[in-house]
Amino acid sequence: MGFGVLGVFLGLLLEVSTHGPHTVPRVSWKHQDVDLMEFSEPGIFNYSTLLLSEERDALYVGAREAIFELSKKNVTVKNNKAQWTVAEIPMTMCILKGKSKEKDCLNYIRVLQVLDDERLYVCGTHAFQPQCDYLSLSDFSLAGRAEDGRGKCSFDPSQSFTTVMVDGELYSGTAYNFLGSEPIISRYSPSQSLLRTEYSTSWLNEPSFVFADVVREGANSADGEDDKIYYFFTEVSVEYEFFGKLLIPRVARVCKGDLGGQRTLQKKWTSFLKAKLVCSMPELNFVFNVVHDVFILKAADWRETVIYGVFTSQWGNVGLSAVCAYNMTMVEEVFSKGKYMQKATVEQSHTKWVRYNGITPSPRPGACINNLNRQHNISSSLYLPDKTLQFVKDHPLLEDPVLPIGNRPRFITKDVNYTQIVVERIRALDGNIYDVIFTGTDKGLLHKAVVFKEDVHIVEEIQLLKNSETIKNLLLSLQTKSLYAGSDSGVVQSPTAFCDKYLSCDECILARDPYCAWDPHTTVCVNIFDTSNQEHRDQIQSLDGDVDKCPSVPGLSAQDYQRVTVKPGSSAELPCLVHSNLAQVMWKFNGSTLTEASRFHLIGETGLLIYSVAPEDQGQYECWSLEWAPAAGKNFSRQLVGYFLTLKLPPRLPYQAVQTTTTLRTSLGTQEMTSSQASEGNGNTARPQLTSAPAPPSSSSTPLFTSPPQTDSSLTSTPSNTIRYQPKHLPPSSNAPLPETKDPAAEYLQHNNSTALLFLFLLFFLLFMAALAYNCYMQYLPAPCLKLRAALLGNKKNPNQPEYQACEAGLIEMPVTEKLDLTERPTQNGKHTAQNQLRALRDTGYETEPECSNGRIPSHSFGDDSSSKEKPFDIDCESQPIEFADADDPYC
Ligand SMILES: *[C@@H]1O[C@H](CO)[C@@H](O)[C@H](O)[C@H]1NC(C)=O
Ligand SMILES: *[C@@H]1O[C@H](CO)[C@@H](O)[C@H](O)[C@H]1NC(C)=O
Ligand SMILES: *[C@@H]1O[C@H](CO)[C@@H](O)[C@H](O)[C@H]1NC(C)=O
Ligand SMILES: *[C@@H]1O[C@H](CO)[C@@H](O)[C@H](O)[C@H]1NC(C)=O
Ligand SMILES: *[C@@H]1O[C@H](CO)[C@@H](O)[C@H](O)[C@H]1NC(C)=O
Ligand SMILES: *[C@@H]1O[C@H](CO)[C@@H](O)[C@H](O)[C@H]1NC(C)=O
Repeated sequence: MGFGVLGVFLGLLLEVSTHGPHTVPRVSWKHQDVDLMEFSEPGIFNYSTLLLSEERDALYVGAREAIFELSKKNVTVKNNKAQWTVAEIPMTMCILKGKSKEKDCLNYIRVLQVLDDERLYVCGTHAFQPQCDYLSLSDFSLAGRAEDGRGKCSFDPSQSFTTVMVDGELYSGTAYNFLGSEPIISRYSPSQSLLRTEYSTSWLNEPSFVFADVVREGANSADGEDDKIYYFFTEVSVEYEFFGKLLIPRVARVCKGDLGGQRTLQKKWTSFLKAKLVCSMPELNFVFNVVHDVFILKAADWRETVIYGVFTSQWGNVGLSAVCAYNMTMVEEVFSKGKYMQKATVEQSHTKWVRYNGITPSPRPGACINNLNRQHNISSSLYLPDKTLQFVKDHPLLEDPVLPIGNRPRFITKDVNYTQIVVERIRALDGNIYDVIFTGTDKGLLHKAVVFKEDVHIVEEIQLLKNSETIKNLLLSLQTKSLYAGSDSGVVQSPTAFCDKYLSCDECILARDPYCAWDPHTTVCVNIFDTSNQEHRDQIQSLDGDVDKCPSVPGLSAQDYQRVTVKPGSSAELPCLVHSNLAQVMWKFNGSTLTEASRFHLIGETGLLIYSVAPEDQGQYECWSLEWAPAAGKNFSRQLVGYFLTLKLPPRLPYQAVQTTTTLRTSLGTQEMTSSQASEGNGNTARPQLTSAPAPPSSSSTPLFTSPPQTDSSLTSTPSNTIRYQPKHLPPSSNAPLPETKDPAAEYLQHNNSTALLFLFLLFFLLFMAALAYNCYMQYLPAPCLKLRAALLGNKKNPNQPEYQACEAGLIEMPVTEKLDLTERPTQNGKHTAQNQLRALRDTGYETEPECSNGRIPSHSFGDDSSSKEKPFDIDCESQPIEFADADDPYC
């Protein structure tokens, strides 16, 4: 039954990943397309800790054994550097404990927090003995007061953990021991003793911490509520029964004023409660159950605060990521009113978590101290009654889940793993507030999405990192309007918008980017937050994508059409670049749309390819882009480029004849171009010829991407054949070879040619029969085949082919250890050496157990046993199964 459920579940995963809703970035910018600032130093890696200081105008970076101070305005400017390496003794200890010298036993700076105006608090893994220190900002040097970093920083540099500094106290979620097996959420404060979680699986069960931050509720609260620190992590669920470990995303919170209990929960949190974070698609019953990062978008009133998280599924191969948003009011509601869960024992040893339906003690367990408590003389957690404390100790988990806003993900994307998220709330020119979500992926990409009322639109995808590596950290500076991404190889600074990449008003509007507006005076797509651009008079911004707001531009005139002249039978490429992934390309020929039924055309993302141009192909070609304009509720179409294609009748020169018969296509380079075309069309000249593509074996088939061999005068009609090729196959730079480089066999198959299929089938069938016959002859195949062979060849046994029998015999052989033992007997501890040898044998990759699967010569041929000299191999005749033992075996 269990497997049936799993099957349905997996089927569902497949269903969701192929047909589920997902959002696609409108445009994709490559690393070299955009202007980014990068920082890295040779020999230094793991730039994974970032800290922005808006006051000091600095970006502090914690890397492996180094801390940098970079300019916030331009990260390529390094202002300071401090080094923090591991001394010899801790290094030796670390190596002795079995950790690697080059990786684990170094000092990975993982905590960077502002302590006061002059100092940063810094912690590093320090060769699996975490240490913390104070970094003076005046001379950028470490104080050398190595403090114990246990509970503040992880031991293992690859283990997930989180910290946040609140009013000089360091809150962290990490592991407390070398093995990383004791999770802890703790507060380190200079004035008080460490406050921490109970070590129990009902508090924390193999958590992987992703984020922690403070939400200030105290400031203007009438009921004297406390500030709260929220933790986000994924842990192994206790409340669900599953085949293996089922992961659950959680939000936990503690109160800032918590001092622990007097007797119960001494030096432990009295306010630790946790709840399930839900990020799922209810209609598909699909759950995103791993949270990777969280961003708390704070507002002046905490009730307006929104929590954003990035999620994937535990079954990562589904390839879906989701962003869910949570309303802070709802989160608070769950913690202050939610039902508790409790452990119940069913059927003796089996425990189950069920809802607690009894009476909860008062004050409410896990609640912060507020004015009401103070009236009852409970001025701090120290005065909480034991009943309340004992209850919260046993019931840290709430039953009520935290549901996402709208009960569904904000958006879902396919084929990406989001690792980081930051959100900026901005006011666009229409006066409305928009949340702009920036997400980083494990491949170094950045997605920028805008939340509209009805939908979420991914404006851009930017390749932030040169190499495909994980974005480990992502920060946003509201002052510089920049994003800072940390990765293993460096730090990258990126602007939050790329308005100047949109060259026309149409593009600027269709981008639907709230940062961008079209300035009709300068005819530039400008960033409305640029300091040099604070006057927004006449600027056009329509986040609905209403292109009609743009000043009308005249369509292409006859002079704008490029003239392309080609020789008959050669091919022509008409370039047309469409940046938008949401747009559809449409080609018109003499005013009518080119469709699948048109002959010998390829419509790709970079243009139109016409094979074997014939006289009827002459005429006017237009490239149109169709893009959905949500405001107008219609497709917005515009012409991007136009061409006049004419044929040039070639002079009858011998050279020409040779060229057109040996190559199937000519390039645009040999075509005459008008001067206007020369500038744009240059990149498309000099196509490689098709000399490398072999002709298909069957002359009746017409391979894709090539025109049938034709002579100059081949103006005969060719089979109707239009192929829409995958845009991916055509490189963006049209200098690269066209898809002829594809495996011709694959194309041959694609062509759906029944002759070819039949031929291949026959070939495989013959190969199969040959293999079968050979294996039968060699006696690799069992009974029925052996009978057949015996019938055909007579019962002669080939003594040189004993593998099968020998192997069968080996199955019942003595253990090999004893065989080896015979040869090693003289030494006293021969048994041990033999076993060691055996282990050594195993280590070299030889399996010493009898193994028949590979038809390999059995392992005991290693043994130099003289008693078996007469027989070429050890054949245990008695033990051989009758059907395999040949009666006339000469050795039996
Ligand atoms: C540190 O960076 C190196 C080099 O990129 C990488 O191989 C390693 O996994 C990183 N280690 C951690 C703990 O991130
Ligand atoms: C959160 O929910 C509360 C109550 O339903 C509502 O008043 C508030 O506007 C919501 N906040 C956001 C950001 O959605
Ligand atoms: C609180 O304590 C004060 C003095 O210690 C006492 O007078 C008062 O009755 C107490 N109130 C309650 C509700 O226990
Ligand atoms: C996402 O992560 C999973 C698990 O780490 C991996 O198997 C998958 O290939 C990744 N997918 C993408 C698109 O990076
Ligand atoms: C397309 O138009 C051109 C003139 O613009 C004309 O010469 C040609 O014959 C037309 N082709 C077709 C197939 O209608
Ligand atoms: C817009 O164009 C797409 C693709 O051609 C088409 O599927 C869709 O029906 C069109 N919508 C409208 C309203 O014309």
